[in-house]
Amino acid sequence: MLLLKILWHVVAFFAYRFFKPDYARQFFTQWVENSRPKFKAKQKFSVIGSGFLYHDSGAFGEVYISPCRRFVLKKSYGCACDKAYGAYLKFVMANQGNPYVPKVYAFLQEGDKQVVLMERLHKLGESQSYWSNTLSNLVRSQNTETDDADLNIVLEGICQLIKDGHKNDIYGGNIMRRKCPDSPTGYQVVITDPVS
Ligand SMILES: Nc1ncnc2c1ncn2[C@@H]1O[C@H](COP(=O)(O)OP(=O)(O)OP(=O)(O)O)[C@@H](O)[C@H]1O
Ligand SMILES: [Mg+2]
Repeated sequence: MLLLKILWHVVAFFAYRFFKPDYARQFFTQWVENSRPKFKAKQKFSVIGSGFLYHDSGAFGEVYISPCRRFVLKKSYGCACDKAYGAYLKFVMANQGNPYVPKVYAFLQEGDKQVVLMERLHKLGESQSYWSNTLSNLVRSQNTETDDADLNIVLEGICQLIKDGHKNDIYGGNIMRRKCPDSPTGYQVVITDPVS
């Protein structure tokens, strides 16, 4: 059984790795969507057999990474902080054209439990403290008038969530980056989960 499982992961890893990004995205989106009725009934979501592997976890839940390494699946534990994440995700999904928010491809929510399929992002590295200080100072002072219109929209969204009673949770771990060859730095900053 274990051997079969390992074999499946090896096959899935190579198969998905060579999928075109769009095809892989459609495939995984469909897989999450197909689980919607079962999730609605039982609030359970199984990654077994999908080829997704455990990546990391935090206060919110567990993060799994797709075999092609392009997507992650975030599965919440169903604790109180998920209300804040759910509220931020609503904002994120309404602002998918904004480069500062993660690209979300599928979202299941039942009660306080969520399953989110999103783009895989990367840690900020040495610019992490610069960005966490800058963004938390802007949010704390409710300054939503920087030179960057897209950033202002996200700052306004976060300030609104804080006014709604959620806590500011901007710190280095909740700010990540996506590769962006057109940008002078080579990356785009992405705010993954700024409230708790
Ligand atoms: N889109 C993503 N792509 C790649 N890794 C991610 C993504 N989102 C989160 N992670 C990683 O998964 C881990 C868990 O993330 P999560 O947001 O659940 O918890 P946390 O940031 O450690 O804690 P918290 O947000 O509750 O303060 C983190 O180490 C984070 O780097
Ligand atoms: Mg986080």
